[in-house]
Amino acid sequence: MYICVCFGVTDTQIKQAIENGATDLKALQAELNVGSQCGKCIRTTLEMMEQTKDLE
Ligand code: FES
Repeated sequence: MYICVCFGVTDTQIKQAIENGATDLKALQAELNVGSQCGKCIRTTLEMMEQTKDLE
């Protein structure tokens, strides 16, 4: 599922980046550009970070 339509970033890509050590939004943006254009996906991305952290 696409989370960021501006850059075509999927939930799978975001989860993988988090699991590979992207611990904050800046790190995710550096890797995937997610949230760095219109910003609409930032909220969902932050929620995904919380959920992924909770699973660890
Ligand atoms: Fe992610 Fe626009 S949907 S920056």
